[in-house]
Amino acid sequence: MVPSDLEPITAADGAVHVLDQTRLPHEVVRLPLESLADAAEAIRAMRVRGAPLIGVTAAFGMVLAMRSDPSDESLALATTTLLETRPTGVNLRRVVVGLNEVLSHAAPADRAAKALVEADRLRDEDISMNRSIGDHGLPLLRRIASRKPGPVQVLTHCNAGILATAGYGTATAPMYRAHEEGLPLHVWVDETRPRNQGASLTAWELGRAGIPHTVIVDNAGGHLMQRGLVDLCIVGTDRTLLSGDVCNKIGTYLKALAAYDNGVPFYAAVPGLSIDWEATDPESVPIEERDGSEVAELGGVRLVPDGTPTANYGFDVTPARLVTGLITERGVCEASEDGLRGLYPEVES
Ligand code: MRU
Repeated sequence: MVPSDLEPITAADGAVHVLDQTRLPHEVVRLPLESLADAAEAIRAMRVRGAPLIGVTAAFGMVLAMRSDPSDESLALATTTLLETRPTGVNLRRVVVGLNEVLSHAAPADRAAKALVEADRLRDEDISMNRSIGDHGLPLLRRIASRKPGPVQVLTHCNAGILATAGYGTATAPMYRAHEEGLPLHVWVDETRPRNQGASLTAWELGRAGIPHTVIVDNAGGHLMQRGLVDLCIVGTDRTLLSGDVCNKIGTYLKALAAYDNGVPFYAAVPGLSIDWEATDPESVPIEERDGSEVAELGGVRLVPDGTPTANYGFDVTPARLVTGLITERGVCEASEDGLRGLYPEVES
């Protein structure tokens, strides 16, 4: 169960609320979303973040837009507004384009109700997919636990936990399952500069769940792997290509390289909605570039000399050859087109 104050998005009695992740871990603030503009702002400003949660929030954004004006023009505006919020995660595109298709075939008077049914379904489906990812990832941790004394040492990057989803998390799902089963576990949490999702969010939610963890600077993972202090890495994904290449928060690639060099298994937790069935070329992935102030400043304090240029790439793509496997809601597969098609035979080539 997701503790109720940790629920990233709620929709009850017609009101949509999100947990404002920019205020965590110091303040737990629930923000009402009352309009399409509110939903788009929450995604753009990263009050909600993480590819699955962005998708679910966008779905509720469509609901809000259809409530205030269900016309064709309003549907088109909601679609483009939401698609423009963040470029890299594929869930947003799949949800918004899918909903546009469904709603454009409905009479305007039915659109708000239909959008709500779809948004509720997407939220529930996300939580149940994540639980299944947990079930399929658990044996990987169990196997390690059976071979060594002491806790299973997992390294994760960014936040692919409850807060990145509608609930339960993707990369954290096997960790939550292992903890539920009483498996000894310790998680190395990359701080994840520049937005510090690991330090602020992953640490907060693991702490709430009582899972032992330690926050490390982003550059520490390679050293820990050399010293045999990491048994496996599990990361999330914002877009996994049909080729098995994994796009995730910037810095993931470097962790995969270090894992490969040290023989540490490297897994990505991938819900079906995060698979881009059309992409095989890593260069085709739109990599979000954010404001340089996120790099230049830490907690509002400027770190770099005035006038120094900064670059702020949000994501990178880890080649499939560095990925031991993909943990999906349907099972674990090789990071390859064959592996993915084996689990999702219904997807057309
Ligand atoms: O920029 P963010 O915080 O939205 O990015 C989220 C991530 O990249 C996470 O690592 C995550 O793996 C993807 S969401 C499960």
